[in-house]
Amino acid sequence: MIVCLCHRVSDRDITAAVRCGTSCFEVLQDDLRVASSCGSCLDCAREVFDTARVEHAGCCRQAETSAG
Ligand code: FES
Repeated sequence: MIVCLCHRVSDRDITAAVRCGTSCFEVLQDDLRVASSCGSCLDCAREVFDTARVEHAGCCRQAETSAG
């Protein structure tokens, strides 16, 4: 799904960025330019970003638990 039409940023792009370590929405904006033009995608982009962060945190905890 395309989240940001201005910069053609998809939910997968945002999720991939989170998996690569992006933990701050402002950094995401700098990297992907999402929500940096008209701004109409801001709420959706933040929602996708927050969901990806929660899911990624779950993966990390699971990996730590199984490794220990
Ligand atoms: S749709 Fe994302 S900045 Fe315009």
